[in-house]
Amino acid sequence: VGETAPNPSQADPTHPRIWLNARIATMAPSRAGLGGREGLGTIEGGAIATVGGRIIHVGDAADLPVLPDAERIDCEGRWITPGLIDCHTHLVFGGDRSHEFELRLAGASYEEIARAGGGINSTVTATRNASEDELVAASLARLDRLMADGVTTVEVKSGYGLSADAELKQLRAARRLGGLRHADIVTTFLGAHALPREFDDKDRFIDVLIADILPRVAKEKLADAVDAFCEGIAFSPAQCERFFKAAQALGLPVKIHADQLSDLGGAALAARLGALSADHLEYTSDQGAAAMAAAGTVAVILPGAFYFLRETHKPPIEAFRRHGTPMAVATDCNPGTSPLTSLLLAMNMAATLMRMTVDECLLGVTREAARALGRQDHIGTLEVGKQCDLAIWDIERPAELVYRMGFSPLHARVWRGQ
Ligand code: NIG
Ligand code: FE
Repeated sequence: VGETAPNPSQADPTHPRIWLNARIATMAPSRAGLGGREGLGTIEGGAIATVGGRIIHVGDAADLPVLPDAERIDCEGRWITPGLIDCHTHLVFGGDRSHEFELRLAGASYEEIARAGGGINSTVTATRNASEDELVAASLARLDRLMADGVTTVEVKSGYGLSADAELKQLRAARRLGGLRHADIVTTFLGAHALPREFDDKDRFIDVLIADILPRVAKEKLADAVDAFCEGIAFSPAQCERFFKAAQALGLPVKIHADQLSDLGGAALAARLGALSADHLEYTSDQGAAAMAAAGTVAVILPGAFYFLRETHKPPIEAFRRHGTPMAVATDCNPGTSPLTSLLLAMNMAATLMRMTVDECLLGVTREAARALGRQDHIGTLEVGKQCDLAIWDIERPAELVYRMGFSPLHARVWRGQ
């Protein structure tokens, strides 16, 4: 997808390039949507120009700057959106959990399997036993699936190592993916994901995370943020807060898996700490949603896990809407609860299962996903000065990107102007 015949400018990322005759959904803030709701910032018959990997023009072709050497690409009326952003994945892991899937089909619950020593810890064993090269190879196949849906930025969490060596190995594997494909990889140290088998005390494990693993991750600059799983089967709000405060003291922003299976007040904790995002949120209260809105913490909706666990308690979408909590949508690609590698299908699930609107879904995989990563100044909308990451689509209406199931109408993908 998106491969073209070799051409002289292809190899040079700084070369000027112009896309003409396009319908553009800039995703920049606007009020032009249905019923005065926020729209997609649409421009008909528009043009985008890039120099040096950044956008220097988006809008009317008549206003294009003079670029005599530019390569000119006729989009023939196709739609252009920002390159999509998958802001929550566990892309790097060893093994799979198809056996546990069968156990769940036979009646066991996710929590029962986790408490019996399966769940996250079975992937920890497989990830510890895999070499860094093996992790990279397995993850590349998944990254390629995401990219086939027009994804240009992927967040990747650790959390299946849970020892210093294995967490560092997982984060290094994640960073290497970025050198092997034309995509940005943003890494998150999910140290507090589960209690590893060799520990019997959660506070003791948090101590080790803070004293030993976190400083090494920070020193090697392997993580762009940290994350924790706040849940009965994982860590309490107090334990998560201790870990987060240590991370913030090292200058790392925080994200949290919150209120997925029960309401422990994870959303409120995220807001109080100024977290970039709180993710899952099936059991989040109205007060939690309001607190997140006030703090600007993004609600990352993960319909793949909701679907795969056959959850019935929906995240409070209407409360997020009413309070103005920004909403993003992501795959949560992971072997246990969301073996999903299609961000387009995640949008369809967010619409069908959670009643998010088409515009909310599309903003949720672009502008709001960028905000969930703290990268809203660089990616997520098509505006002058931002990185020129584009997805060019064979569609007649943006709603088609949300409406279809298991089909990618991607025509071409552009990353940093190439
Ligand atoms: O995002 N919620 C915790 N972490 C993952 C699942 C982890 C697993 O079961 O392997 C999630 O759903
Ligand atoms: Fe997750």
